[in-house]
Amino acid sequence: MAPNDSDNTEFLQNLINVEDLPTLPAIAQQIIQMTMDPDADYKKFSKLIQSDPPIAAKVLKTANSAYYGKAHPAKTIEDAIFTIGLNHLAGICTSISIIQSFSHWEESNLELEMLWKHSISTAYLADRIAKREKIYGAVNFFLAGLFHDIGWMVLDHVAPELISVALMIVEEDGIWSRYLEQDLIGVDHAEVGAFVLDNWNIARELSELTRFHNDPEKAGGLASHACIIQFASALSPFPLPFTTPIGENLSPFNPIDLEASTGEGAHKEMQKRYAKDIKSTKDFTGLSLSMV
Ligand SMILES: [Fe+2]
Repeated sequence: MAPNDSDNTEFLQNLINVEDLPTLPAIAQQIIQMTMDPDADYKKFSKLIQSDPPIAAKVLKTANSAYYGKAHPAKTIEDAIFTIGLNHLAGICTSISIIQSFSHWEESNLELEMLWKHSISTAYLADRIAKREKIYGAVNFFLAGLFHDIGWMVLDHVAPELISVALMIVEEDGIWSRYLEQDLIGVDHAEVGAFVLDNWNIARELSELTRFHNDPEKAGGLASHACIIQFASALSPFPLPFTTPIGENLSPFNPIDLEASTGEGAHKEMQKRYAKDIKSTKDFTGLSLSMV
């Protein structure tokens, strides 16, 4: 489905005043573009990061944090890139600038910190799972995880009264169903998120993975990548009230070899398999948020 072919485009345009959305910071835009560029190397990244002194200072601070535990301090941006790795570095810098661009939004029902913790931990886990399972392609899993639930943030801003009802339902029923989301709001958070990303005009893969992170079957050539985002979100140690366990039945596009064939068994199997990564994502998330 092309970004603007959705039947809900008009509904979304009425629901969301795009003038009211934060703009994507230029540095984030350039970093995202660079992650898609096969010719980009650490030298280009280094030059870009040095063009933004506040970000450059945070990159150095990150590389010298206890999380990376290096015996020799990183003195230059190149040192920092070698310590952090290009993928994580792009993710950390994008997180910092995106979080700052949303920071002027007043919270309604959902705490921004909770939303960002969920997003960063999903980003980290998606990247880890994809690497461990050797799933490649022109997709930056870290960035896809970072953006996948941005729709909740926007919905809580544009329709706080509906999110308040949704939270009451979750509290009563103990679980959220995304079909309720359609009934209650008229559109689901995944579509809202994709609408925002399309509006920012960023990599098509990122908006498609956001749109289909709960419907991998519909993601066409990105179906197995969308499964990774869905799994990472479900395994995040910082769930949102609306985060649901891995689906009742595993998607046929699930690229991970699992013994279990049902949602609950698969969920437990994955929690066990990625226990180490789930633990380390807590530290990584804390470190990333401390840099904002
Ligand atoms: Fe989601």
